[in-house]
Amino acid sequence: IRQALKSQIELGDHEVVVDRRKRTKAAPAQASGESSEMTVTKIASTRTFELTRLPEVQARQYDSLEQHREAICNCQLCPLGKTRNKFVYGVGNPNAKLMFIGEAPGADEDRLGEPFVGRAGQLLDKILEAMKFTRQDIYIANILKCRPPNNRDPQPDEMNKCTPYLNEQIRIIQPKLICLLGRIAAQALLQTTTPLGKMRGQWHEHVVVPVIVTYHPAALLRFPGYK
Ligand code: URA
Repeated sequence: IRQALKSQIELGDHEVVVDRRKRTKAAPAQASGESSEMTVTKIASTRTFELTRLPEVQARQYDSLEQHREAICNCQLCPLGKTRNKFVYGVGNPNAKLMFIGEAPGADEDRLGEPFVGRAGQLLDKILEAMKFTRQDIYIANILKCRPPNNRDPQPDEMNKCTPYLNEQIRIIQPKLICLLGRIAAQALLQTTTPLGKMRGQWHEHVVVPVIVTYHPAALLRFPGYK
């Protein structure tokens, strides 16, 4: 049970449904008079964050991704500006119809300045191939442009500072569909604390763009059964 709970947390759920009925042959749940209700048990605290007022440079609108990248690539709005090696803006087709958004750069991305180039990125490439897409067809970005030290979860303040950059990328690209990879990206962009498991398999919307939510490729590497 512990392993199952751990897997669910890593896959992005914040709550699990536990069937508290005792299912024994001698005393089946209904017959024994026990409540047949399922109990929703919180297994991790949920977090939320507010969009703060945007600094001037973030609120400006840009004509192209290149102009935007130039304007923000030396960002020092949060402490990650001091610890990053490379600013990881995003990569792909500026006219992409489909945009993937992950959480934050990891060690490989921080070294190379490109999102999803490590093991999770290789799996993403395979997923794209199965969809008959290449990286040139789509656009890939993250909630954060800089790597959190030791790959820790992004902090609310970091996401507040960085999400407006992502929103400007979305405004410039105008994708027809956004696919959010993992709980952090999903909760951050959709401004919710709903568990990933509840968001999957449903349509969402960001501003006017339809959004779908799925597991992060890194989670699929750890739990291949969820592919
Ligand atoms: N994980 C992410 O969420 N983004 C990356 O760019 C790499 C790994």
